[in-house]
Amino acid sequence: MQRVCRSAAGVLRVRRMGRGVIGGRGCLATSDGSRYNGRVTASIPSGAMLRLPPIVLGAMWRSLPGAEGARARLVHEAIDLGLTAIDTAPLYEFGRIEEELGRALRGRRDRVMLLTKVGLRWDGDHGEPLFAAEIEGRRRVVRRDSRPVAVRKDVEASLRRLQTDVIDLIQVHHYDDRTPVSDTIGELLRLREEGKVRSLGVSNYPAAALREAIVAAQGRGGLATTQEHYSLLERRIESEVLGLARAKGVGVLAFSALEAGVLAGRGLADARAVEDRAPMGHPKNLRRINEALRGTALPMAAEKGVGLPELALAWVLAADGVQAAIAGASSSEQLEALARVPEIRLASEERARLGDVFARLELDPHPGVPWRMRAEAFFRRRVAGLRRRLAPRRR
Ligand SMILES: NC(=O)c1ccc[n+]([C@@H]2O[C@H](COP(=O)([O-])OP(=O)(O)OC[C@H]3O[C@@H](n4cnc5c(N)ncnc54)[C@H](OP(=O)(O)O)[C@@H]3O)[C@@H](O)[C@H]2O)c1
Repeated sequence: MQRVCRSAAGVLRVRRMGRGVIGGRGCLATSDGSRYNGRVTASIPSGAMLRLPPIVLGAMWRSLPGAEGARARLVHEAIDLGLTAIDTAPLYEFGRIEEELGRALRGRRDRVMLLTKVGLRWDGDHGEPLFAAEIEGRRRVVRRDSRPVAVRKDVEASLRRLQTDVIDLIQVHHYDDRTPVSDTIGELLRLREEGKVRSLGVSNYPAAALREAIVAAQGRGGLATTQEHYSLLERRIESEVLGLARAKGVGVLAFSALEAGVLAGRGLADARAVEDRAPMGHPKNLRRINEALRGTALPMAAEKGVGLPELALAWVLAADGVQAAIAGASSSEQLEALARVPEIRLASEERARLGDVFARLELDPHPGVPWRMRAEAFFRRRVAGLRRRLAPRRR
């Protein structure tokens, strides 16, 4: 059994323990012999624990399109504020953001942990289409492709773009039901043996596929993380994935905990500020969300002397099994708010009260979408689910 603590700076420390229950505060002794008063965050039976700060900066950059100088300055500021892990992906601006990060991190690479992804490609016709986009003047289809040959190509391209010798955490961006999970994980393990990646993770995997990934990596260094959408308004992982990850010692990295700014209160004064942030920014949903923000979240945040973004992120981080939250930021003020989050403590009663208020909101996951398109999407999801369930049997 290992005990995991979070230091004030947010770094996870692991200590081997005898059998026992872990919970509450006050984990003092750590693997490196130093002492911390950080919060005990998880019970980890075994596996590939990765040391990560609780807040990871998301480099997808919703705002600031094409503003390389501004984005590089934010990265430098983030590092100086102690936000020393950055999550990105080849998909973000189709390789451009990785290239920019490579340039921005020249001379600073050893101060950060770099997290990127594999398994979404737009240069071939293999794999299930995810969406189509205009890329360098041509319409292309982005596909899920986690074949060994594809993930190897992805890692090598990311290493080049990021101008680094090693990626700290490589994550399979989306589940590809046409490729056996063990083949994908097997190739990533080989890349680790070759020293090109340090740790392995997945993202957006259904629970059954996550289980397969855990088994495939077991005894070979283990699966470190799974990256999942998790927020006060999006709690689907609580039904299965979160418990599975916790039981198997896989850290959950929660993304979009601010719902693209909606839970940060960006739409409180001006609904237009979030109208492009569907589905939560849609007026139909926003009105209800803002009521909950005003009625419960704002008073609680004020009582604790913090802002709404910090509260929404602290809520996610307080979930047992969540190792870190990946959050985006587009200004110095937003970065400063992110840097304050690890200091915030939410009592379990406060967490439950906040969670209940948002869970009761009746929100429309597809506002503004005609019923016919919803029905088509529903059937597409059902077919994809069935294919996933049958996939292991086909092999
Ligand atoms: N694995 C996946 O499939 C997946 C999917 C989505 C995202 N991600 C990762 O998660 C990261 C975050 O994603 P996200 O952008 O959806 O998440 P988010 O953290 O929910 O939203 C970030 C946005 O919230 C606003 N914001 C942040 N701090 C604020 C503050 N203090 N006050 C007011 N507004 C604030 C900013 O909007 P403005 O920019 O407009 O100021 C910022 O861009 C991405 O960069 C990416 O690394 C992964």
